[in-house]
Amino acid sequence: MKKILLQLDVDPQPCSFDAITAVDAGVDVILQHGSVSADNAVSLVHGAMFTRGANKLSSTGIFLGGKDITKVEDVASRISETFFDSIRVSVFLDPAGANTTAVAAVIAAKRHISFVTSAETKCCQAMILGGTGPVGQRISRLLAAQGAHVYLVSRDLERASTCCQFIQQKTPNTHLEPLSGKMVEEVIGSVDLIISAGKPGIEMLTATQLSQATSNTVCIDLNAVPPAGINGIQPADQARRDGTKHLYGALSVGEMKMKLHKAAIQQLFQTNDQWIDAEALLLLSERLSFPANKPINK
Ligand SMILES: NC(=O)c1ccc[n+]([C@@H]2O[C@H](COP(=O)([O-])OP(=O)(O)OC[C@H]3O[C@@H](n4cnc5c(N)ncnc54)[C@H](OP(=O)(O)O)[C@@H]3O)[C@@H](O)[C@H]2O)c1
Repeated sequence: MKKILLQLDVDPQPCSFDAITAVDAGVDVILQHGSVSADNAVSLVHGAMFTRGANKLSSTGIFLGGKDITKVEDVASRISETFFDSIRVSVFLDPAGANTTAVAAVIAAKRHISFVTSAETKCCQAMILGGTGPVGQRISRLLAAQGAHVYLVSRDLERASTCCQFIQQKTPNTHLEPLSGKMVEEVIGSVDLIISAGKPGIEMLTATQLSQATSNTVCIDLNAVPPAGINGIQPADQARRDGTKHLYGALSVGEMKMKLHKAAIQQLFQTNDQWIDAEALLLLSERLSFPANKPINK
């Protein structure tokens, strides 16, 4: 039976990147819908639920994307409410590529940093620059759920604070702290992980600021558009050693992100009851044997 992907996008024009990746991952037919909202999603989802027989539902999947994360979450809730009993299809969420990118960055960090804490080991301290954007928020949520103390950085302390509260509502008992401006330099000396998720083409951390990160810090820059988000990181860097630091650039993280995206699409058609959000994607990534998924000794 043909694998059909219902590509739902909250933006007016469904993302071509997501469509091409789906084809490359083995999808036979893509049905694209733009401007999807919580109001108009139900009839689209009913089409996916009721057209093929109950034992064929795993041959249909839904991809949900778009740049507005809040709208995507509203549509996701409505899709979830529309399913009942075993009459459902699997769903993969990747708004603005945020989930795949965030998980790829977390996988890179996990090659060097153990998030398991005990009485003897302190928890990882992570600084997320551009933490208010779609990618930064996802990374912050994933790391906080792993047990890290997350410093979420914005140019505006109130915006950072709102994001921290929002993430803490979704993932209670997590530790997130908003930072802005000079506050970055007060804590940078003690962080284990710095991820730059700022707007493309914006330098988020200068060479002088980076030199103040004196722990065995893993530094990941997700911006591929010059200048670098973290001064001194090259896009192709993959665990490049620089003194006490390990450096990752946007292209090496992007390669992992693409593998994850394709793996998630393939996973979608295994059963009809999967919900592949950022957390499920991280779990899936840990089951996959990507070369970049192997730990690196410090
Ligand atoms: N490598 C990959 O595979 C991959 C895939 C997807 C995305 N990305 C990259 O990941 C990064 C994050 O993506 P995104 O969509 O989350 O980014 P975004 O929404 O465009 O920007 C993230 C944050 O950057 C801050 N920012 C905006 N303009 C700024 C400026 N002039 N100076 C300092 N900070 C500024 C904003 O935070 P405040 O306004 O709160 O300060 C914003 O929330 C981007 O560089 C993107 O290209 C990489």
